[in-house]
Amino acid sequence: MYRVVKDEVFLKCIKCGHEYIPSPRLFICPKCGSLLEVIINNTKFEWNKIKTRRFGVWRYRELLPIRDDVEPVTMCEGGTPLIKALNLYERKHVAIPNTYIKFEGANPTGSFKDRGMTVGVTIAKYINVDGVVVASTGNTAASAAAYAARAGLKCIVVLPKGSVAKGKIAQALLHGAEIKEIEGSFDNALEEVFESIVEGEFKNMYPLNSYNPWRLEGQKTIAYEIVDELGKVPDYVIVPVGNAGNISAIWKGFKELYSLGYIDKLPKMIGVQAEGAAPLASAWREGLSEPLYVDKPNTIASAIRIGKPINWPKAFKAVKESHGFFIDVSDEEIINAMKLLARVEGLGVEPASAASLAGLMKCEREGKIDKDSLVVLIATGHALKDPDTIIGKVVI
Ligand code: F0G
Repeated sequence: MYRVVKDEVFLKCIKCGHEYIPSPRLFICPKCGSLLEVIINNTKFEWNKIKTRRFGVWRYRELLPIRDDVEPVTMCEGGTPLIKALNLYERKHVAIPNTYIKFEGANPTGSFKDRGMTVGVTIAKYINVDGVVVASTGNTAASAAAYAARAGLKCIVVLPKGSVAKGKIAQALLHGAEIKEIEGSFDNALEEVFESIVEGEFKNMYPLNSYNPWRLEGQKTIAYEIVDELGKVPDYVIVPVGNAGNISAIWKGFKELYSLGYIDKLPKMIGVQAEGAAPLASAWREGLSEPLYVDKPNTIASAIRIGKPINWPKAFKAVKESHGFFIDVSDEEIINAMKLLARVEGLGVEPASAASLAGLMKCEREGKIDKDSLVVLIATGHALKDPDTIIGKVVI
């Protein structure tokens, strides 16, 4: 019946635990309205068998939910560099010698979103839809547009007006997406997509925001690659958080390797938000188990300018289960980290991505991480995404 996803996988509600057949169009638990997760109990995966395959998302095919006989819509995404931040250590900007940066800007459209889109758009191609639709702060739009183009599908992107970095709009336009701008923030754009899928305008369009659990399956490969390359599990993984899909996906990746017996420990997950858009970090600080929504999120890091992260239940679970935490950083700290990455390590990242280094530096100041830890920072998107911010606000 569902020819694109494997018969042996299933969907499970993260709240009530109800299990469902693997329908690519099921995103929210029909029983309790919570988020769903893809469950894979495949044991055919063997590290030594995959070593000859290209480093990237599809290297871990046995752990992905797409059937073996399906040709994926791929641009060789993933397989991104894991770079040791030795200069930052030697010049005393960080105190932890074993700090690595996973440079997701090296993906085909310049962000980690490509990992999710290769899986999500592959599904869209094989089910009967007119195209794909996303709300976005920009990178999801750029990525969806590119992968939809490759798959021969239509793409509609819903963007918060005046709030998306130019490089990302240019990418979406270049790849032929239809852009719909709405007043308000990303949160309003996502609501619009939700409503229009149910009520009409986007009816036969496949939604690829991160509440789509199938898309997150591609993003979990960040965890696989880290273990694959390091040959061990980091003590901490530090992730910039917006809609909170990526931190949830990375944690799922580690947990799968653990439950399948491929690793014998798990990292602590640290979610970093920008101070003006920190519904999770502020709730965490207050000891609450639900987010403190922000009506008008505001930060220089437009990619994570999100006040109502839809994946918050998964992200809270990830951080709690891993014994990690959420923190927030100021725009000034983000700009400083962005400059350091660029000028000390030679790595150009966009503001949201620099939140991970800003977060590490804050954790060090507050004594939250031991110096002998192994730390991986996820640098989520490329500097070229947002030239206006660089020229106007970072390099003045
Ligand atoms: N970093 C960058 C560069 C991003 O584009 C995003 C999200 C994040 C971090 C946060 O990831 O949402 O999974 O917690 N960008 C989305 C978009 C919202 O529309 O491009 P998250």
